[in-house]
Amino acid sequence: MARDPKPRPRLTARTADRHVLYQRSVQAAETDAACYARWFKKYTGRDLRVLREDFCGTALLACHHVKRHRDNRAIGVDLHGPTLAWGRIHNVRPLLDAEQQRRLLLLQQNVLEVRSPKADAILALNFSYSVFKTRRELGAYIVNCHRSLKPGGMLFLDAWGGPDVLKQQTDRTRHKGFTYLWEQRRYDPISHEIVCAIHFEFPDGTKFRDAFVYDWRLWTLAELRELFEAAGFEDVHVLWEGTDKKTGTGNGVFRRKERGDMDEAWISIVVGRKRG
Ligand SMILES: C[S@@+](CC[C@H](N)C(=O)[O-])C[C@H]1O[C@@H](n2cnc3c(N)ncnc32)[C@H](O)[C@@H]1O
Repeated sequence: MARDPKPRPRLTARTADRHVLYQRSVQAAETDAACYARWFKKYTGRDLRVLREDFCGTALLACHHVKRHRDNRAIGVDLHGPTLAWGRIHNVRPLLDAEQQRRLLLLQQNVLEVRSPKADAILALNFSYSVFKTRRELGAYIVNCHRSLKPGGMLFLDAWGGPDVLKQQTDRTRHKGFTYLWEQRRYDPISHEIVCAIHFEFPDGTKFRDAFVYDWRLWTLAELRELFEAAGFEDVHVLWEGTDKKTGTGNGVFRRKERGDMDEAWISIVVGRKRG
């Protein structure tokens, strides 16, 4: 068998790029783009054409949405200029040709204030809205989403919880060339504020500590549903992830449920629809 002339250099904390590692360990952007397009079609009977990815970071999901169809457009919103700039270099340019790039709009703005073109669907994933620590702020964000959607448009926010989430602990997941660590560092039962961090470890023994640190409020599904309804969303409900019988962890299959399970840790998606 022919040898790879340029073997990939081994990953080490000395040279690792935290965005590359994040995308490889946390995101499944191509699968998610396909999944939300399928759900949107199922809910509305329409094709998902204009997607807004809030808290888009490196805009990987927005890029994949644009790539899926020649009529697809995406709007990515993030406050942090350097992260958006990284996304332009490492995701937008390699993944999209010039025509596709014209169908992607990246806005360096606060999602609380952004005035974007109207979208068919807005996604806020990986719990990023948890930066809002008061009902007033999170409520204002959800109202802004409602205003930014076309009639019949949909908002999807993911959420997490369960007794395991409240424990001080670090979970480790091995990936090719590195280990991903998710640390639940501090949780305050009074305010529901939670501090979590992502670290990476490498086979040469080096560590990238605090690659990302999150200072969040842990919102409950009940609070999220109430805020969706207060903002004017209809048919507000939860998609609950099923459990893999062998591993006891999430199986990636989300179904509409009125009652959740008493799982140690769970992920779900809150869905709301703007009147059509
Ligand atoms: C956890 S990352 C999310 C990355 C990606 N969307 C994902 O699903 O993995 C959170 C992002 O939210 C951005 N962010 C935090 N507060 C924001 C705000 N008020 N408005 C816009 N972006 C914000 C940060 O700059 C960061 O890039």
